[in-house]
Amino acid sequence: MKRTVVLKVNPMKPRIETIRVAARIIQNGGLVAFPTETVYGLGVDALNPKAVKNMFKAKKRPLDNPPIIHIADKNDVYMLAKRVPKKAEKLMDALWPGPLTLVLKRSKIVPDITVSGLGTVAIRMPKHKVALSLIWESKVPIAAPSANLAGRPSPTTAEHVLKDLDGRIDLILDGGPTRIGVESTVVDLTVNPPQVLRPGGTTYERLVKILGEVQLHPAAIADRRVRVLQARSPGMKHRHYAPRAKLILVEGTSIDKVVERVQELINEFADEGKKTGVLATEETAKRYKADVVKTLGSRKRLRTTAKGLFVCLREFDDDGVDIIVAEGLPLKGLGLAVMNRLRKASGYKIVKVED
Ligand code: TXA
Ligand code: MG
Repeated sequence: MKRTVVLKVNPMKPRIETIRVAARIIQNGGLVAFPTETVYGLGVDALNPKAVKNMFKAKKRPLDNPPIIHIADKNDVYMLAKRVPKKAEKLMDALWPGPLTLVLKRSKIVPDITVSGLGTVAIRMPKHKVALSLIWESKVPIAAPSANLAGRPSPTTAEHVLKDLDGRIDLILDGGPTRIGVESTVVDLTVNPPQVLRPGGTTYERLVKILGEVQLHPAAIADRRVRVLQARSPGMKHRHYAPRAKLILVEGTSIDKVVERVQELINEFADEGKKTGVLATEETAKRYKADVVKTLGSRKRLRTTAKGLFVCLREFDDDGVDIIVAEGLPLKGLGLAVMNRLRKASGYKIVKVED
C-alpha cells in the first residue's frame, strides 16, 4: 500500500509548484493521475519500463493492452514513431491538441512493455493545461491509460480515481470534472484509408471532413460480439466500461416504442424483486417508473450525453441497482462514442425494437 496524495490544481491556471511536485514523481518512476479534456489518465514515464510495469499492476490491466503516450510538443511524434504519413500530419495540424489518438509505426526508443510488444504506438496531445504542463515539466512523454481499475468505467473526476486507485498510486492532481467525458478517438494511420479503432471525443464526421475517406473498424461500433482474430486495437477484445450492475440496451428509431420496451423490461425485473435503474434522456426521463432514473442529457445535444455517461454508470453502482436498462442514442456525432461504450458495457445484450 502506498499513501495516495491528492493535490488540487486550477484547471485553467495550474500553479507551477504543484505541477513540479507531480513531475518529480514521474521522473522518479512514480504514478500520477491527472486530468485531460476527456477523462483522467494514470501517468508514468513512457520510456521507463519499470514505471510502465507498475502502472499495469496498479490498474490490474492485462499486459497485452498498451496505454496511449501523451506528448506536449508535436515534434515528439517524430521521436516516438518511425513513419509519420502525410494524413497523420494533417490530423495533427487540424486537431491537436485535442481528443484524438494516432496509431503509428513505433520507433525503437519506445520500450516493448509500453506498446505491449506491438509494432505500433498510440500517441496523443491532450488539450488541457494541467496535462500539458505536467508533460512539459516531466521532460518525458507520459504513458497514460484511463485512471480506473481495469474493466471499470473511466474516471471523469478525481473522486472516481480515488475510489478505484486509493493506496495504489502516488498522486492525484485534482483539476475538477473533465470537459468531454469520454475517451479520445483512436485512429490507425498505418492503414490506408485510415481506420477508426475507437470512436471518442473527436467525431467521425470531423475526421471525414479533414481526410476525405476514413473507415470505421467493424468492431468499433459492433452491436454483437465480433470475433477479432487479430485485434488491431487490443482494447477491443477486453470487456470495458462495465458497471457492476447488469446493463441492457434498447435500440430503435421510434422513441415512443423504445420507452415502452424499456418500461416493460423494468417491470419484469421489478417483479423478480430486482432493484432497477433506467438510463434515460431529458426528453424521456419523466415517463419512466423505476427505482432510479438517471438522465444522460438531451438527445438534441449528444455532447452532453457523453459528458454524463461514466458519471451515471458509476452512480448506478453507488445506488446498488441490480439492473440498468438504457435507451439507445443516434449513431452520429458524440453519440457514436456513447453507443460504443454502452454496447460494450451491455456485453451486447441489446434489444432492438421495430418501428
Ligand atoms: O482520452 C483518452 O484517450 C484517455 C486519456 C487519459 O488520454 N486515455 C485512454 O487510455 O482512454 P486507455 O488506455 O484507457 O485506452 C487506450 C486505447 C485502448 O483501447 C488500447 O487498446 C488502444 O488505445 N491502443 C493503445 N496502443 C495501441 C496500438 N499500438 N494500436 C492500437 N490500439 C492501441
Ligand atoms: Mg481505459
